Order: sequence, then C-alpha cells, then structure tokens
Amino acid sequence: MMNAEESQRWWQRDDLAYRGEELYFAGLAVSTLAKRFGSPAFVYSFARVRENLERVHAALRDAKLPGYTLLYAMKANRFAPLLTSLQHTGLCGIDACSPREVEHAVSCGFRPDQISFTAGSLSRRDVDALACFDGLFVDCDSLHAIKTWGEIKPGSSIGIRVNPGMGVSRADNDKLQYAGVAATKFGIYEEQLQEALSLAAHYSLKITKIHFHTGCGYLTAELPQWDRVLGACLEKFVERCPDVTTVNVGGGLGVPHVASDGVLDLAEWSRVLNKHFGHRQYKVELEPGEYLLKDAGILILGKTFEETKQTSRFVGVDAGFNIAPEPAYYNLPFQPLAPICRGELKQVTVVGNINEALDVWYRDAWLPDLNEQDHIVLINAGAYSASMASNHCMRGDGNTMVREFLLPDTKKQ
Ligand SMILES: Cc1ncc(COP(=O)(O)O)c(C=O)c1O
Repeated sequence: MMNAEESQRWWQRDDLAYRGEELYFAGLAVSTLAKRFGSPAFVYSFARVRENLERVHAALRDAKLPGYTLLYAMKANRFAPLLTSLQHTGLCGIDACSPREVEHAVSCGFRPDQISFTAGSLSRRDVDALACFDGLFVDCDSLHAIKTWGEIKPGSSIGIRVNPGMGVSRADNDKLQYAGVAATKFGIYEEQLQEALSLAAHYSLKITKIHFHTGCGYLTAELPQWDRVLGACLEKFVERCPDVTTVNVGGGLGVPHVASDGVLDLAEWSRVLNKHFGHRQYKVELEPGEYLLKDAGILILGKTFEETKQTSRFVGVDAGFNIAPEPAYYNLPFQPLAPICRGELKQVTVVGNINEALDVWYRDAWLPDLNEQDHIVLINAGAYSASMASNHCMRGDGNTMVREFLLPDTKKQ
C-alpha cells in the first residue's frame, strides 16, 4: 500500500523528482528552466526519449522475433529538433499519417524507405503526393485506398490496415479506441477482406504487410485484451493473405497518468509478442508515439490568478487546453506540480485561459501556496500536446504561444 505522501509522488523517477524543495527534470532545476524559457513552454528531455526507445528495443529483443522494426509515430510530436535527434540515433524509422508528415520527416533526415505511411480518407491529391516518395511504404486502410493506389502504382507492394472489430485502450476509454463493437472508419473489416484481395489482384498489387492499430494508452491491466487482439488479427487476416511477410501491430503502449496506473510491464508485453510471433516467420513492426515521447516532456505554465468561487479554489494559468488538448478531450489528467514545493499543500483546481467550459487542467490538485507569476508544471506533456495545439481564442499561434525546447542528451554528446 502507498502512503499519502507516496501516492502524491507516484510520478517520481530518477530524472523527474524533488530534491528537497526543488523539482528537477533531466538533471536541471525546473525553476531554472522556467526562468530560461518563460511560460508557456514545452520542454523535452532527449535523454528520456532515448531511454524509452532503448527500453522498447530491449523488450523487442527479448520477444525473440524473427525480425522487427521500430517506427516512431510522429503525430505524437513532430518538433523538428526532436525528429532530427531521433534520426541520428538510428534506433527508429517513422510512422507518418499525412503527406506533410512524410515531407517533414524527410526534411529531418529520414529516408522515404525508413517511413511507413498509414492514414485514412486520402484524397487523390494526397495519393499523388505520396507516390512521389520512392521507397515509401503505404498501408491502405480502405478498399477505396487500394483502388486509388493501384491506379497510380500498379504492381507495387502494399500493406493493408485491418480492423478486427475489437480494440484495446487505457482503462477501456472508448475515446481512445480505434476498433470495437461500434463500426469505426479505421481499416478493412474481415467481411471486406475478400474484396480487398480481389482489388489488389486486379491491380497486381502484392499485399506484403498487415497493419492494425486498435487503440491507445494500454497498460498492464489491458495486456490480456491486447493478446486477444493479436490472436484475432493473425487468424482473421494475416493467415489469409499468402504474400504477407510483415505484421505491424501499431502503437498504443501507454504511460501512467495517475497513482493507480503503474508502469506498463514490458516483460509481460514482450511475452505476449513472443507467444504470437516467436514461432512464426513474420517480421514485426511497432509504431509507438505516446510511450516514447509523452513522459519526456513537461509544460511550464505561469500562474495568473487565484480565487475561491463557491466551494472551489481556482488557480489560473497562462495557457489553456488548446495547446495540450488531451486532458480536455480524452479525460487524461496531466498532474500539476510546483517547481518549488514549500509549506502546506492545499487542494485547488487548475484552469486555463480559454473561454470554454472544458478548459480545466486538473481538478483537486495538491499544490503549495503560489504567488502570482510563480510557475506550475504539467507532466506527460511530451506527446499529443504541442502537436495537437490550435489557435483557439487566438491563444495558440505557432510563433508566439506554442514554444518548444529540446534538452540534449548530454551523456551521449
Ligand atoms: C496508425 C497509428 N499508429 C500509431 C499510433 C501511435 O499511437 P500511440 O501514440 O498510442 O502509441 C497511432 C495513434 O493514434 C495511429 O493512429
């Protein structure tokens, strides 16, 4: 059992922890980062990204697969210095989901043949743009995409994204699920497979990859469901496509957001992969976003006001959900912390500066007394935050409010 103090500090790890009253991130005092970068500012630690990458590689090696490729889902965070640093590690390729993402990945040093493309609702213009990148591998996620791709690239090899009618997500959060009981727009369903095979044959396309990504944020408790999803995809799709050499099992690996979450048990995850692929001849692709980036980023905010309204004590900050929408959209709490934690803690609700009712960062956070212009830090802001930012209420313009900084991995320089 965790005591109260431990449960409030559930997020602590070597590179994110209080030393005395001072909060440290990536070896630096957060108060120093706040002075240096101001607020609001996203600060990422490349050392943590590399650690996350290496941990996943180790788990993939432990799974004893015939072969594997690790792709980073760049929709999670496309900050150019980050992509360039990832490219320099040589530890991953890229999963892209729009022609502009492909262009951007190439401009950051990735070769088209290191990029796998998966997306839906492609226009003819999108497909023409993708076809210009020799070596880019495209997963078609509908019958329409097979036909469109076949018309301009007959005789090529493709992947198909499939939908097994079941998914896996953090705590069964259905907003994070891409496949399930209700029909979704993602992928080709089992009952469409025969038509997909016929269409591919019509254009002499060879289906060499089956791709599925059925949801996001899964943790240890969801591994049995992930196991079932893998089994279903193998049986319903992979084994019915004779030319398949590669199976892309998507992303979806989650990180903890609250004390009760716990970290994903990668050893168990690796056993599940081994169970399905250890004795088969397929190369496995994995394309995580959240797991690699999310806990490698913090968002530094500045306090604006504090006031009790009815029974709630509100603390306002200088940015709202538009620059990091996950807490509001997906109900994923981003724990707020004080760079300097001194004195008694009190319960407050942290709110942003956007004129919308859903602009609540965190309800009932325990924080110390803060002066106006003191800072508050949100953890888990490394993925699906800046990359999803909008200019809503004109408070998110790319040049002013969404400022990002990458702390280099000094150990590796
Ligand atoms: C096709 C595809 N692959 C990979 C990912 C990355 O997912 P995650 O960040 O949950 O690992 C996504 C995210 O939605 C996706 O749609």
